[in-house]
Amino acid sequence: MDDILKVAMPKGRIYKQAAKLFRDAGLPISEDFEDSRRLIIPVPAARMEFILAKPVDVPTYVEYGVADIGVVGKDVLLEDHRNVYELLDLGIARCRMSVIGLPDWKPVLNPRVATKYPNVASQYFREQGQQVEVIKLNGSIELAPLIGLADRIVDMVETGQTLYENGLVEQEEIFQITSRLIANRVSYRMKNEAIQHLCDQLQKVIPELKFV
Ligand code: PRP
Repeated sequence: MDDILKVAMPKGRIYKQAAKLFRDAGLPISEDFEDSRRLIIPVPAARMEFILAKPVDVPTYVEYGVADIGVVGKDVLLEDHRNVYELLDLGIARCRMSVIGLPDWKPVLNPRVATKYPNVASQYFREQGQQVEVIKLNGSIELAPLIGLADRIVDMVETGQTLYENGLVEQEEIFQITSRLIANRVSYRMKNEAIQHLCDQLQKVIPELKFV
């Protein structure tokens, strides 16, 4: 193993928040690459390399050890149980996973529920004792109840703007979500000093969790 820490970062809107947190923790992360299309970003001054992955793929890169650590939403970890260590709640990218529907929604027998998170949704409704048919979609989940594909959806709510603009309402909150720092099990042992040092630095600047 080389001594460069390979970090799988979520590409897209979470990247800037994660990079800022690392910067606040004292790591020399340049802002130069924030709007670029580069997928591998060297951070030599911190003995790191960022791998910019699709958020849902971050745990895969970490589990297979091509990234030592990664930043990923708790939603992804709950949906796709990967064999990785969860080290820290980073307190960024806060949102919630909820059951959503039209305001005039009424319970029906064996309703259809559309979601990007079929495992989470199935488990939730099973625990509620409700039989549902889960339909997996990959995005624009809010469309499903609007055009009659599903009775309800399970999706992320951050500002609530998407729901508002599409006339949907949040009916039940399933859980709160934040980004987590995860580690490959072997890397955690082999690069423990570097990973532990990073955790210590991050812990000093993690925003306080204030869920209401
Ligand atoms: C996510 C999520 C909601 C929206 C919530 O979608 O699935 O649609 O953001 O954010 P808001 O409460 O601030 O409006 P994303 O933008 O990731 O796109 P997607 O439709 O491809 O899932």
